[in-house]
Amino acid sequence: MTTQEEQTRAALRFPPGFAWGAATSAYQIEGAVGEDGRGASIWDTFTRTPGRILGGHHADVAIDHYHRYREDVAIMARLGLSAYRFSVSWPRIQPGGSGPVNSKGLDFYKRLTDELRRHDIDPWLTLYHWDLPQELEDAGGWPNRDTAYRFAEYAAAVHEALKDHVHTFSTVNEPWCAAFLGYASGEHAPGRREPENAIRGAHHLNLAHGLAVQAMNARRVGGCVNLYAITPATGAERDLDAARRIDGLQNRFFLDALLLGRYPEDVLADLGMDLGFIQPGDMKAIGAPIDVLLVNYYSRFTVSGEPGGRASAAAAPTDTASPWVGSEHVSFVNGGRPVTAMGWEIDEDGLVEILTRVAREYPPIPMVVSENGAAFDDALVDGRVHDRERQAYVEAHLAACRRAIDLGVPLQGYFAWSLMDNFEWAWGYGKRFGLVHVDFETQERLLKDSALWYAEIIRQNRRHE
Ligand code: NOJ
Repeated sequence: MTTQEEQTRAALRFPPGFAWGAATSAYQIEGAVGEDGRGASIWDTFTRTPGRILGGHHADVAIDHYHRYREDVAIMARLGLSAYRFSVSWPRIQPGGSGPVNSKGLDFYKRLTDELRRHDIDPWLTLYHWDLPQELEDAGGWPNRDTAYRFAEYAAAVHEALKDHVHTFSTVNEPWCAAFLGYASGEHAPGRREPENAIRGAHHLNLAHGLAVQAMNARRVGGCVNLYAITPATGAERDLDAARRIDGLQNRFFLDALLLGRYPEDVLADLGMDLGFIQPGDMKAIGAPIDVLLVNYYSRFTVSGEPGGRASAAAAPTDTASPWVGSEHVSFVNGGRPVTAMGWEIDEDGLVEILTRVAREYPPIPMVVSENGAAFDDALVDGRVHDRERQAYVEAHLAACRRAIDLGVPLQGYFAWSLMDNFEWAWGYGKRFGLVHVDFETQERLLKDSALWYAEIIRQNRRHE
């Protein structure tokens, strides 16, 4: 082994028990939207609305995981994963978002978790990855407080049925996206552009989290946030203020709520709206103790207070408004780093930055990186995908995780996004994030070079377990 290889291996050696994972979500992979009593979700409706999804794609079939889950778990086993993060489709469990559970829907997740357990892979279950039952949207969606109570009931039902099968329950995936892309920019379902309702929605998503944590009383429960490293474009006062605002809405609004049980005063002041929807007792519920914080990390934003820049850090595939409620004047500038196929700047130091920040600024909480990965324009040549850029991305971010641990961060695992190529929301099937290549016509799965590499890193780490 060369010295450089030795150094790389040392940089990627993790403590025993570190969770080696990959992640997916229900709507992005399952398909089978009309089977076993599943109801409609807001994504079924949104994908049917002309002009919302690039190429007019939908996920009626997606990558057919509902029927191919055994094959997919076998792939996970081949990679040597010790953990798998997936989400439950709410409209499979309660087709209309409330009332009695649909046992056929639950059975799928029993079969899946049994299969995972048979392969010694810990199931990490996410209760909500954006597929709200359409009936609840018709009743007002997340801006309607009632949705949070419905979510707590749903969470309790899933927990009751699956508590002996699941390693960790987590509540809402990336509440920022669900609220601001769904209700302010309109890039995601339900596609509304109602800034004040996005804030209401964000609060009710937080409330849904807290009420669900209390309702489940789970052995291990977590909350998930998507955090960005944020830099002001210059040291000028207005750029510093822009960075404070974006950090406030993207990061602190959720971290402070979940970990401190309050919202940051400066963010509430920036919003300049009536906050009567935050009711007595809400913040205590939202701050209910959790066992682990799930951190999704992809990139860094460089922000400016100068008007005229880009309204978002990355291009949207369809016509959208700004998601930055109360800070629409803030713009995003090019930070000069290489980008992925999504146009997202690659910055692994940002991961160290946010993990150490949470460890420093909040009460002690174990963390995992619950999503991290990259889309690139993969080429399938002679049965291989030589995705060196994805491998380099994952390698750099894993090394960043290792550095964070060395700096004292209680980081307990890493989940690559994604296990397989899948339906990338408003981008349809146009962006591939998988370690595993999927032929969307034949549904054939094939391990990309990044997957083979990840399997080797996992093997080296787990061989003494
Ligand atoms: C975060 C989301 O949780 C996931 O659904 C999405 O596919 C990835 N980011 C990539 O955009």
